[in-house]
Amino acid sequence: MPRFAVTNPLPEPALELLREAGELRDALAGADAVLTLLSDRVDDAFLDAVGPQLRCVANVAVGFDNVDLAAAARRGVVVTNTPGVLDDATADLALALLLAAVRRLGEGERLVRSGAPWRWGMDFMLGSDLRGKRLGIVGLGNIGARVAERARAFGMAIAYHNRHESPAAAALGAERLELDELLAGCDVVSLHCPLTEETRHLIGAREMALMKPTATLVNTARGPIVDEAALARALAAGEIAAAALDVYEHEPVVEPALLGLENVVLSPHLGSATVETRTAMAELAARNAIAVARGEQPLTPVPL
Ligand code: GLV
Repeated sequence: MPRFAVTNPLPEPALELLREAGELRDALAGADAVLTLLSDRVDDAFLDAVGPQLRCVANVAVGFDNVDLAAAARRGVVVTNTPGVLDDATADLALALLLAAVRRLGEGERLVRSGAPWRWGMDFMLGSDLRGKRLGIVGLGNIGARVAERARAFGMAIAYHNRHESPAAAALGAERLELDELLAGCDVVSLHCPLTEETRHLIGAREMALMKPTATLVNTARGPIVDEAALARALAAGEIAAAALDVYEHEPVVEPALLGLENVVLSPHLGSATVETRTAMAELAARNAIAVARGEQPLTPVPL
């Protein structure tokens, strides 16, 4: 009977699947498969603490930068993630953040709550339209494609930057550009690539200087893709108009210089945070753990 463990509480339907398929234990040590969160660091020390019987780390997230894949591979541990089930929720949040940034909703909300006097005026708190603007997607994968679909419904043109042509691009009418061209030519830049050694600080001072002074940067991917201190400087200096962030370089700590700026919208890593999506993520992770524990192919392995 396979032994499962979870590092944190998970939605009941996922726990139920694990209980039906084996024994759900309280301790991580001795488990055959462990369900982890993106806030868990899965490294040599973690894997050693679970023990040599471990066969699967099922990360309840599409991102897996919290997992040391080489350490897992050395032990023959299969790592799985949860692609596909969180695309709509994350794309919804990206659009929510984008709208909040270009229509100055955070700033407006702070004003109303402050009790300070305000009145409707022709030039009061003007933002900008999305229709007719160009969205640049960095990382046109599952989530990026859903963001593009939504942005098209708002009347935006789509460009993207990927290392290779994306099969989704033609249907989205998305034009592939080099990163520098995308940064210089788009009104909104939205990040949807994974965090890897190549994408760490992909958007730094040089890249923000290339962007239009009217541009908005949206990050719902991973914080370290953006140099957060450089972003705060670019926003304060008006090098770019606005930013909207769901993820942070040193999460959950936020660069203090961002906190005092009106032209940045900040949310606490809520991309996949809906009841339906979190349940689907946990269930997919449970099915992955169960498959590996039974010696079957997992549904969504992380390629090693
Ligand atoms: C959320 O950030 C995820 O990677 O699933």
